[in-house]
Amino acid sequence: MRYTLNLRDTYMNNNVVIIGTQWGDEGKGKIVDWLTSYAKAVVRFQGGHNAGHTLVVDGKKTILRLIPSGILHENVICYIANGVVVSPEALLEEIAELEKHGISFCGRLHLSYAAPIILPSHVALDQAREHVLGIHKIGTTGRGIGPTYEDKVARRGLRLVDLLDINTLTEKVTTLVNYHNFLLEHYYQVKPIALKDILSTAMEWSQQLSPLITDVSHCVRTHQDKNEPVLFEGAQGSLLDIDHGTYPYVTSSSTTISSVFSGVGIGPSQVDTVLGIMKAYTTRVGSGPFPSELHDETAEYLAKQGHEFGSNTKRLRRCGWLDIVFIKKAIQLNSISCFCLTKLDVLDGLSHINLVIDYQIKSMLSLDMEEPIYDILPGWESNTAGIRDWAALPLNTKSYIEKIESLIGVPITMISTGPDRADLIIRKNPFQS
Ligand code: IMP
Repeated sequence: MRYTLNLRDTYMNNNVVIIGTQWGDEGKGKIVDWLTSYAKAVVRFQGGHNAGHTLVVDGKKTILRLIPSGILHENVICYIANGVVVSPEALLEEIAELEKHGISFCGRLHLSYAAPIILPSHVALDQAREHVLGIHKIGTTGRGIGPTYEDKVARRGLRLVDLLDINTLTEKVTTLVNYHNFLLEHYYQVKPIALKDILSTAMEWSQQLSPLITDVSHCVRTHQDKNEPVLFEGAQGSLLDIDHGTYPYVTSSSTTISSVFSGVGIGPSQVDTVLGIMKAYTTRVGSGPFPSELHDETAEYLAKQGHEFGSNTKRLRRCGWLDIVFIKKAIQLNSISCFCLTKLDVLDGLSHINLVIDYQIKSMLSLDMEEPIYDILPGWESNTAGIRDWAALPLNTKSYIEKIESLIGVPITMISTGPDRADLIIRKNPFQS
């Protein structure tokens, strides 16, 4: 289903970036999906199949890891840009799954020639490393994301462009896999990966993916030159950023606004609006500090009501209160101009709701030891699920949202009140000026 809107009359902000402002899993997928109805193109610019977007459309659940959810809208063109690490195996599985559901890919999915390739040996390295770290493990998704980004900056990785030349592909794959196998066998002391299997699958990937490989930066520029609305879809969240997140418990890409520019190949003037996605509470998967984390029945309540287990790895998410200090940091890192508040309805049953407004010690160096200072607000203890109109929200819900707005100084222009695509309160569409 596609929402009808007259593109030319309505759009002024043609280039909207969506950024997660916590530790990921803020509910970006649904918002990307909704905004896609107003876009001509959707572009993924970082991360890989460590992301997982659960979408509910007309009651039907779809999980996407790599392909932009724009693929569900038949007139939208989807791009996987150079900042994304691509597992051909995962991508082909996702394509096959969507095709089973009648989604057509013809001319609608394009991959950057410069996107790094995730090989099975990257996955093996990721998992071996986590195993060795034991209790100090990062809690990665085990999908080979980190080792692939490492190979990229070490200038030894493979890129999708390498699939285009089968004469040199064998040699390139062999060199890289031999290096990985050396590490696996001699450093991590685990079984190496069978080179011949990777070589034969690489040939299949070449055949299947070559027609999709192109210059994504140029394609995006072409949409922009025609004044067509483009949505840039971030994965993970600002606190998982390799530079600005809770290092070393982060992912291996930049999850903040800068990666739109390097990860697609556009400049800052080619972005009009940065929409931050903020969940009404906080969750985290994997290890690392989480000062507002709860370990009581409220945590259980949030996990249960919010279905807080990973759509990708099925791991249970840690739950805690919304942290205004971190949201302010995300605003600063990303120049966020407006917010979508998600999963508001999950708070429906709570008698009070805490907000972290400050810390006893103000340092990003010792988050583990930090004692948050809370503001305690009354809950609303009534149903907001599925409300689509601001006026229909309970008074205390409005006060909660307005309190957040006054603390962060950025408007909350969209509010999500349920998993369905239509469960949204739109105070202002980010594509409109
Ligand atoms: P990696 O990205 O698989 O290397 O995992 C590094 C850290 O980022 C781990 O704590 C993961 O749980 C976390 N992470 C990666 N992708 C996501 C995501 O899409 N949502 C939430 N956390 C993520």
